[in-house]
Amino acid sequence: MKRVMVQSAVLLCLLVVGVVDVDAAEKSSCLQCHADLGGPLSKPVGLWQASVHAENRVSCHDCHGGDASELSMEAMSPVRGFIGVPKYGGVPDFCGRCHIGVKEDYDASAHGLALNNGGAQCVLCHGDHAIKQADLDLINEQSCSRCHEYDRAAKIRTALAEVDSAIALLDLEIKQLFRTGIATRDMSGELFSVRNDFHRLFHNVDVEAVTAQSASFLERLEKTSGRVDSIKSDLGQRKLIGAVVVVLLIAAGILFLLLRRTYGENKSPR
Ligand code: HEC
Ligand code: HEC
Ligand code: HEC
Ligand code: HEC
Ligand code: HEC
Repeated sequence: MKRVMVQSAVLLCLLVVGVVDVDAAEKSSCLQCHADLGGPLSKPVGLWQASVHAENRVSCHDCHGGDASELSMEAMSPVRGFIGVPKYGGVPDFCGRCHIGVKEDYDASAHGLALNNGGAQCVLCHGDHAIKQADLDLINEQSCSRCHEYDRAAKIRTALAEVDSAIALLDLEIKQLFRTGIATRDMSGELFSVRNDFHRLFHNVDVEAVTAQSASFLERLEKTSGRVDSIKSDLGQRKLIGAVVVVLLIAAGILFLLLRRTYGENKSPR
């Protein structure tokens, strides 16, 4: 659901900008020619094919520009909109054309502010052609201690992971309620809005803000969790009442049979 929401937002931007041409993604001259070039010039093709971008039909020319219907080298003419390969400091603008919200947060972060003084940028953390769905595993000692100590990174990861597991647990409980026929739509809605807001936090890389906000996100989750619990206890009571009714019905049935037998035995001639 969250994915779908983010996805539709990004796709909407793309449609407005007019950069994604669904058919061109498959018939792309970029793909055709580069696949046959060999060496480092065709390496991006294989890497890209297994990426979240290929999955969402964001192809070579959507990032690099150029004319994907032109079969010659002319495809890469600046006249046809080719922007080529970004330099280190140009990457956030390059990716930020589509990831507008992330770019905003990133620009205001310690990494964004230090971009030209050794700050990390998009490709350094996500890679370039083999980009996958983002998750907390991107925050790991190997990646984050390339430029500084891991300790602040670890604090952010811990805070985010705590909220993540609270969300996962609640998601499971809500799904269980749904299976018993309870309307859970607005509870899932609440959960997904928390999840959306929460996942926006990372790029700030502001330890204090993240830890402080994690606490308030946990509070928001607590409210939903309270509703789940009260529905569950209602259900429990309903089950108890149901069980009592069944026992009473069985008792009544036995009583009826006994009475009928006694009554029948008295009446029947030997
Ligand atoms: C006819 C074959 C052919 C087509 C079509 C083609 N390329 Fe290339 N591309 C090459 C060759 C050869 C090179 C390396 C020589 C060069 O940089 O001019 C290259 C280089 C590149 C580079 C690296 C440039 C650099 O500055 O290092 C990128 C990025 C690229 N191509 C993307 C694209 C995109 C995007 C498309 C489609 C719009 C495309 N190519 C279409 C053959 C092709
Ligand atoms: C999500 C955006 C994105 C897509 C899609 C993408 N590229 Fe790239 N590409 C980049 C970035 C960013 C770089 C710069 C490399 C870096 O900074 O690590 C790059 C670099 C390159 C280079 C220079 C050599 C290298 O590997 O660094 C070539 C060639 C290239 N891309 C070709 C392609 C081709 C062919 C496709 C389609 C299969 C493609 N790219 C799809 C973002 C993209
Ligand atoms: C220091 C490493 C780092 C840098 C720099 C970075 N990211 Fe991320 N990115 C992450 C991590 C870690 C996550 C996962 C956060 C989470 O799950 O809460 C993420 C998540 C994302 C997501 C998914 C967000 C969502 O709402 O689910 C996108 C898209 C993204 N990054 C794009 C970018 C772009 C574009 C840039 C450059 C402007 C960038 N990232 C810079 C590490 C980084
Ligand atoms: C032409 C538009 C476009 C460009 C340029 C672009 N992306 Fe994306 N990206 C998308 C779309 C569309 C998706 C799939 C929808 C989504 O998940 O947001 C996506 C998905 C992602 C995801 C997975 C998001 C998630 O939910 O986990 C990451 C990470 C990401 N992109 C990073 C990058 C980085 C890094 C660059 C620059 C090298 C880049 N993107 C350039 C359009 C683009
Ligand atoms: C390319 C180098 C580089 C990489 C890789 C890198 N960082 Fe940073 N980071 C910086 C620089 C430069 C600063 C600003 C100077 C400082 O505070 O050390 C910074 C600052 C930070 C801060 C402090 C922010 C603040 O407001 O005090 C955090 C937290 C952080 N990085 C987290 C991460 C995480 C998490 C990763 C891995 C996903 C990561 N960094 C990877 C370069 C990097």
